[in-house]
Amino acid sequence: MSQFVIVKNLTKKYGELTAVDNLSFDVDKNEIFGFLGPNGAGKSTTLSVLTTLSDLNKGDIEVGGYHIHKDKMKIKQLIGMVPQDIAVYENLSALENVKFFASLYGFRGKKLTGAAKEALEFVGLSDRLNMKPKQMSGGMKRRLNIACGIAHEPQLIVMDEPTVGVDAQSREHILNSIRTLRERGATVIYTSHYMNEVEEICDRIAIIDRGQMVACGTKAELVSLVTDVQSVYIETKLSVAFEGAEIKKKLKTLPNVKAVVTEENTVRIDISIEQNSITRILEQFLAFGMPIINIKTEVPNLDTMFLTLTGHELR
Ligand SMILES: Nc1ncnc2c1ncn2[C@@H]1O[C@H](COP(=O)(O)OP(=O)(O)OP(=O)(O)O)[C@@H](O)[C@H]1O
Ligand SMILES: [Mg+2]
Repeated sequence: MSQFVIVKNLTKKYGELTAVDNLSFDVDKNEIFGFLGPNGAGKSTTLSVLTTLSDLNKGDIEVGGYHIHKDKMKIKQLIGMVPQDIAVYENLSALENVKFFASLYGFRGKKLTGAAKEALEFVGLSDRLNMKPKQMSGGMKRRLNIACGIAHEPQLIVMDEPTVGVDAQSREHILNSIRTLRERGATVIYTSHYMNEVEEICDRIAIIDRGQMVACGTKAELVSLVTDVQSVYIETKLSVAFEGAEIKKKLKTLPNVKAVVTEENTVRIDISIEQNSITRILEQFLAFGMPIINIKTEVPNLDTMFLTLTGHELR
């Protein structure tokens, strides 16, 4: 897969403070790339440099084959930015707002109106074209903010915490919109504090802390950095503690099983993530005639991983 964004040794300082410190990463074309890190980690700073809104002190950025030091304007044209702080005009209607932002990219006339209406429909605001932001709820404003960033059909969409303060339904709508944008060919860089969102929609995740890259990879790759164990919880009808002694012994002899713990009607079996052996475990329950009521598997989540890698919590 070709790389659409290449960031090399990016450093950005605010006076004495190094907000982004020698950061390198790349994003494949058509990928949804997540950016995760605590407050002040340097996420927004990285994105503002990448989107040419502020200058860098050191390093290089390439977007769509253009270098930031040579072709800043070309890069600007390729990008749609959805900023962390909602940036819409309070006195313009939803449609006027989106039209204004798309016009900055050269859209005019029918093409402009068409693109603006489509973007508003995309975020579920097509019945609010004439509504002003001040009449909107927080979630609606967030969605308008997104429409303003995507109406000009950018190849790269950069979203900085687009779901802060929106309800579950709007959030689902936004996440689905992001998936659709990718299906249409866009590349997406996505920042959020909601681990489950990042886990759900991002192909790869970069974890940054104090301006530096802590780790980068798929969720499975990140989890494997801190553990190779997955827990499988099997709830049975019979009391395992009482009746399961034999099965417990048998389970312990299976390859890749690291621990077997029984609690009431549930058995927790820790297995190696790499060599998944869930099928063999289930076979034992069937062989011992123990009906399975429920199965749940658990791998360490990104919170645990972040804590392990950095020594402090994400937020
Ligand atoms: N315009 C600015 N002038 C001076 N310092 C700044 C400026 N913008 C950000 N900083 C500082 O740079 C560091 C990184 O901030 P940044 O906004 O990039 O973090 P973030 O990861 O986006 O955090 P958050 O999760 O809170 O949005 C912080 O220490 C912040 O105080
Ligand atoms: Mg930020």
